[in-house]
Amino acid sequence: MKRSSLLSLLLIAFTSLFFIQCTHDNYVAVDGVDGVDGIDGDFVCQQCHSDTYRTPIHDAYDLSGHANGESWGRGTRGSCAACHNNQGYIDWFSDMYVDEDTGLPIANPDGYANSTPINCSGCHSTHKTFDFENDGPDYAIRNTEAVQLLVDDGYFIDLGFSNACVACHQPRRSGPEDDGNGSFTMTSTHWGPHHGPQSTMLEGIEGELIPGSTSYPAIGSATHRTGSTCTQCHMGETTDNTDGGHTFYPTANACTACHTNGVPEEVGGLAADMDALLVLLENVIGWEYEYEVDEDGELILDEDGDPIIVLDANGDPVILEVVGILQDGHPNTGSFGEGATFDILDARAAWNYLFVEEDQSHGVHNPAYAKALIKNSLQALD
Ligand code: HEC
Ligand code: HEC
Ligand code: HEC
Ligand code: HEC
Ligand code: HEC
Ligand code: HEC
Repeated sequence: MKRSSLLSLLLIAFTSLFFIQCTHDNYVAVDGVDGVDGIDGDFVCQQCHSDTYRTPIHDAYDLSGHANGESWGRGTRGSCAACHNNQGYIDWFSDMYVDEDTGLPIANPDGYANSTPINCSGCHSTHKTFDFENDGPDYAIRNTEAVQLLVDDGYFIDLGFSNACVACHQPRRSGPEDDGNGSFTMTSTHWGPHHGPQSTMLEGIEGELIPGSTSYPAIGSATHRTGSTCTQCHMGETTDNTDGGHTFYPTANACTACHTNGVPEEVGGLAADMDALLVLLENVIGWEYEYEVDEDGELILDEDGDPIIVLDANGDPVILEVVGILQDGHPNTGSFGEGATFDILDARAAWNYLFVEEDQSHGVHNPAYAKALIKNSLQALD
């Protein structure tokens, strides 16, 4: 694939020698560039650097969720900036700031005065090599190194140019841990993998492998991972300028090579299983402490600022029933918002639900894995 796209690139570049010789090239004027050894002429540079070539890229980018999303406002916070602020992302890959605990590079932990969406200068920096003929085009992509996962520093995902996507589109949390009593306490309505677990879904990791009758595919074995990548499906050749390329929306042109009889509409049965699992998760029974509240229903706090647990006549905490580890699809922290405790199995099934939901591909990234996670969760709770 890479080889053939390089070839067509060179072919177009060669043809362009005859047709677009007079196109303005911004980089001819760059110091030293003209003298680079072994490049067979400015036309190779022009191929990607001409205004004619770039205008559609800018137009496509303007349509993308990257340009239009609202979450970029979050990128002033140090903990969010790496993925929600162009400068935060640049800093993350610069070794400028380092996490004291892990020694790994991060965005400025003190945060930023401004936050802007990821743009050309975030994903791209400068060429690592100018020997395109032997090294292939590098597209001047900032990070092409394998990505060390935030939730598992022993695991690296390596998808070539798509490593640019993996860095941000990875989970921020791992699945639930047993508290030692076979339970798990839900303390955050934001619990879950966060909104970008796509790369781990494609890889087939970070789901909870609840035993069941559907077997789990081997890690890294999904055809969509072995035979394709983020950039191929999301940046492939556009059908009508609203998908593929720098819109980053999947293009059907990336599917037809394999799906010769037409692109499947959906991952068969997954949506129905997700619905059924959600009903179960919204009805599993957990418990919470009762807390003292004032006449407005607000928590009364002790002198340390902690809420006060109501005790019964024997001096034991009063325990209330909580229905649903998820409520309206979101984690349930109980009626006081102070935490609700559920069986660890319920928590693992809830994790799988949120993992598939937040991946947002409706299982397409890894059909067999998504199906197995949901089927086995359903079976275990039913
Ligand atoms: C396959 C496409 C492609 C080819 C061919 C290519 N470039 Fe680039 N180049 C890019 C991309 C993408 C960037 C990212 C920065 C941007 O888009 O402004 C870039 C960035 C650069 C930058 C840094 C720009 C900056 O603002 O710091 C320089 C310098 C550069 N290229 C020079 C060249 C030269 C010289 C050639 C020919 C020898 C060349 N490029 C060929 C795609 C290409
Ligand atoms: C700097 C981090 C970052 C990088 C790098 C990045 N993304 Fe994103 N991406 C985001 C964020 C954040 C959003 C959500 C924007 C919003 O809605 O506020 C997003 C949104 C998207 C969307 C649209 C989702 C929607 O709900 O509309 C797609 C598709 C996407 N990214 C694919 C990719 C691909 C493919 C790559 C690699 C070429 C990539 N992203 C690289 C952070 C990143
Ligand atoms: C490891 C990268 C990463 C970090 C760190 C990160 N996010 Fe995100 N976040 C993403 C990605 C990727 C998306 C977009 C997913 C999509 O649309 O498919 C996203 C989406 C969001 C959204 C949009 C949700 C929606 O449904 O529209 C919000 C809000 C958000 N993040 C808040 C935060 C906050 C607040 C922080 C810091 C506490 C944070 N994020 C840290 C990667 C990250
Ligand atoms: C979210 C990351 C991201 C952003 C933002 C981004 N690019 Fe790219 N760009 C890529 C990746 C990844 C590739 C390589 C695609 C491939 O492998 O097919 C690429 C390829 C390119 C290429 C060469 C191949 C092609 O698709 O024509 C050019 C030129 C380019 N980008 C220019 C730009 C410009 C200009 C902008 C700003 C409007 C921009 N890019 C924004 C990730 C990004
Ligand atoms: C086999 C092709 C394929 C591959 C490989 C792939 N995707 Fe997707 N992706 C899709 C399709 C198709 C959808 C949309 C499914 C739907 O809307 O039901 C999607 C959805 C998404 C979304 C949500 C978009 C939205 O509009 O809500 C994001 C974000 C995303 N993918 C990012 C990635 C990242 C990052 C990678 C690489 C780690 C990747 N994808 C790999 C095909 C692919
Ligand atoms: C490299 C070949 C290849 C490419 C490219 C590819 N697919 Fe697939 N796809 C497969 C194979 C093989 C399966 C079935 C086996 C599996 O799940 O790995 C599959 C399964 C699926 C399924 C699940 C069907 C079901 O009911 O389980 C969907 C949906 C799907 N693909 C959509 C897409 C879309 C959309 C694209 C393009 C954006 C795409 N595929 C690109 C090979 C591919």
